[in-house]
Amino acid sequence: MAVVIIRQDEKINAWKQALQENAPDISFFSFLEPHDREKTEVAFVWKHPEGVLKNYPNLKYIASFGAGVDFLLEDKSIPDDIPITRVVDPILASDMSEFVLATILDNLKHLRHYKVDQLNCQWKPQDYNRISDVQVGIMGMGALGTDLAKFLTLIGFRTIGWATTKKPQLGINMYYGDKERNSFLNQSNILVCLLPLTPSTKEILNRDVFKHLPEGAYIINVARGGHLNDQDLIDSIDEGQLSGASLDVFHDEPLLPEHPFWKHPKINITPHIASVSDVASVLPQLIENYRRFKKDLPLNNLVFRQKGY
Ligand code: GLV
Repeated sequence: MAVVIIRQDEKINAWKQALQENAPDISFFSFLEPHDREKTEVAFVWKHPEGVLKNYPNLKYIASFGAGVDFLLEDKSIPDDIPITRVVDPILASDMSEFVLATILDNLKHLRHYKVDQLNCQWKPQDYNRISDVQVGIMGMGALGTDLAKFLTLIGFRTIGWATTKKPQLGINMYYGDKERNSFLNQSNILVCLLPLTPSTKEILNRDVFKHLPEGAYIINVARGGHLNDQDLIDSIDEGQLSGASLDVFHDEPLLPEHPFWKHPKINITPHIASVSDVASVLPQLIENYRRFKKDLPLNNLVFRQKGY
């Protein structure tokens, strides 16, 4: 029995080496090297090439290397009864919270704007905002959203959250479902998307949502590109309903060279770097779940296919 590691980035060998060092009794293979596909029962996967999992006729368990599993659930060639797990990791959460904080402060103080001014030798002071001037609305109160809410509250931000299913007491005002969505949006000067991408959250960041935000609201999307209707964002910014956006994720990654986001003065883009699984921190849970799978024990962080996360 063996584990195949499938990812298309340059980190594949580092992951393989770290996994092998930490679990010498398990055979790990990169999907790029010769290996016995018939004997492979487990796959650790991040954004696999389409169709590649069909090559493993005896696959019994798939682990995502990240928090998201949308790329696995979209692959209709994966049989419905194969369990899928995802990563829930405190470092993934704190990295995300730090990134969102940096993005919010950058926006309140116009730092990236001054960088552009600097490159044009322009000296143009602008009014700035304070933490007390804004309320942050977080859409999606899973592990990442909850960590962010706690972090921002600690720093002094007024923070509210929106989710579809009831959460335990989180110490912030919560809004639920379609019924309370607009009350939540009305009060969110900065809207952060941390939802899972599912059929019901696809393009949830659209004109209808933007028009319920206070005028001049700012959008931060650190979840998935599929959450955003790109044209609605551009139109809402150009019409003045939104003051701008910071986007870390895109429908197509890398962002296509001809995409209008690149050159839009009020849209800041980063290359899907908000929070990336840390090998040392995530590795123990991948190995632990593999061992649980072998012993027929319930898997940690199992994905509920019907819910989509
Ligand atoms: C990153 O996007 C992740 O899903 O972990």
